[in-house]
Amino acid sequence: IPVDPFDLVIFGATGDLARRKILPALCRRFGEGQMPEGARIIGAARSEMSRDDFIEMVSQAFDEFLGAQAPDAAQRAAFFERLDYVAIDAMGDDGWTTLAGQMREDVVRAFYFSVAPSLFGPLAANLGKFRMITPQTRIVVEKPFGNDLQTARALNHTLAEFFDETQIYRIDHYLGKETVQNLMAVRFANIFFEPLWNARFVDHVQITVAETVGVGGRGPYYDKSGAMRDMVQNHLMQLLCLMAMEPPYKFDPDAVRDEKLKVIHALDPVAPADVVRGQYAAGPETASFADEVENANTATESYIALKVGISNWRWKGTPFYLRTGKRLRSRVSEIAVAFRDPPHSIFGEDAPWKANLLVIRLQPDEGMTLKVMIKEPGPGGMRLKNVALDMSFAEALGDDLHIPDAYERLIMDVIRGNQTLFMRGDEVEAAWAWTDPIIAAWQGSADKPAMYDPGSSGPDEALKLIHMDNRSWREIR
Ligand code: BG6
Repeated sequence: IPVDPFDLVIFGATGDLARRKILPALCRRFGEGQMPEGARIIGAARSEMSRDDFIEMVSQAFDEFLGAQAPDAAQRAAFFERLDYVAIDAMGDDGWTTLAGQMREDVVRAFYFSVAPSLFGPLAANLGKFRMITPQTRIVVEKPFGNDLQTARALNHTLAEFFDETQIYRIDHYLGKETVQNLMAVRFANIFFEPLWNARFVDHVQITVAETVGVGGRGPYYDKSGAMRDMVQNHLMQLLCLMAMEPPYKFDPDAVRDEKLKVIHALDPVAPADVVRGQYAAGPETASFADEVENANTATESYIALKVGISNWRWKGTPFYLRTGKRLRSRVSEIAVAFRDPPHSIFGEDAPWKANLLVIRLQPDEGMTLKVMIKEPGPGGMRLKNVALDMSFAEALGDDLHIPDAYERLIMDVIRGNQTLFMRGDEVEAAWAWTDPIIAAWQGSADKPAMYDPGSSGPDEALKLIHMDNRSWREIR
């Protein structure tokens, strides 16, 4: 279904995110026929360049980042008709009158702040100064949304001077992933998970986001951030919220976000003994984390595992174990729900325990597996076996299944005016309020992250974290 006509301005249009994600996502939605005739996309950045130069840059980005999926010449030409470019000085006045002159009245206006957070304020102020903020205006901001509670609050205040909360779209791209949205479908569109979805029946939950990449060219940012701020405060926290929240009364932006916020408020503080930090060492072909961030003394974590408790009626007593890291054995994001044992085994004490497990695979190989016990066929008596009921999206939904990139969904939701998959200001602040003391505890201690080999599943200390509770991590294969 095409969305309404819009003017979308991308600040930072020559930057990495715009070239890698935002513009390819827009081109794809255009190719799918979702953009109306009246859709216009204006790139804005500091560099002086012509419209043609900008289009050439975007075309190169498609080749570089989309590979075999890059649009063909005809598709590109049609998409590029929608594009324009304006050189702009975020901190000064240059270019703003030109940009303001290009905006149409009476269509949705979206300003995508694909820039460093230090520019959020100046951009917002210039949008106000040049009278570009209409009731139909929305802004999109990317993470990092602050570096701690104080900076996140300051950012919220700055934006609130110019925009109403309903106009602010804070992106957490994990919420745009189809399989992350699927968590809500699985939980709330089926009858048989929800009755078991609580501390009486769930022994523990594991949330894993493992990456094979290192920090690459993002060393200076990442060395200040680390896995806790870069991944846990936002992406893993969102996954935890979707897993743990109460059913919203309706699939409505504030109903969903209210429920997520309650989960964040119910998170227990994390004791230092329940956190393991790791840092990757050099491998035969890869540099160490310290070399990549060019800081020999760095104590920043490229891996983190933590045990999190939720103090509410549903979850008290069921730990959520979270882990994420870079340069691990494989790229895999999944959530595993380990159920408790049946109350009594009629087959005798040898029955294998912890038999029931639900694994929701977020990426790659999207799908779900439910482990169940069956009788192994044969005359040798009642021998039990743990087998998998397996569902893969690709098989269940057909070979031509295309799982859209998170940004495709999220940008179109901005135009539609649907904030369900975006973080509200109070949610971000609550997430930082929980994160800050964890980070503060390391800063006050001399402990350093444990080293782990690239291509491994993280530091041994992370195994101990869960073994202490007589449980074990799912293998990262
Ligand atoms: C980003 C982090 O938000 O998410 C990166 O800053 C990380 O460090 C990335 O690599 C992971 O996203 P995805 O979609 O590849 O799982």
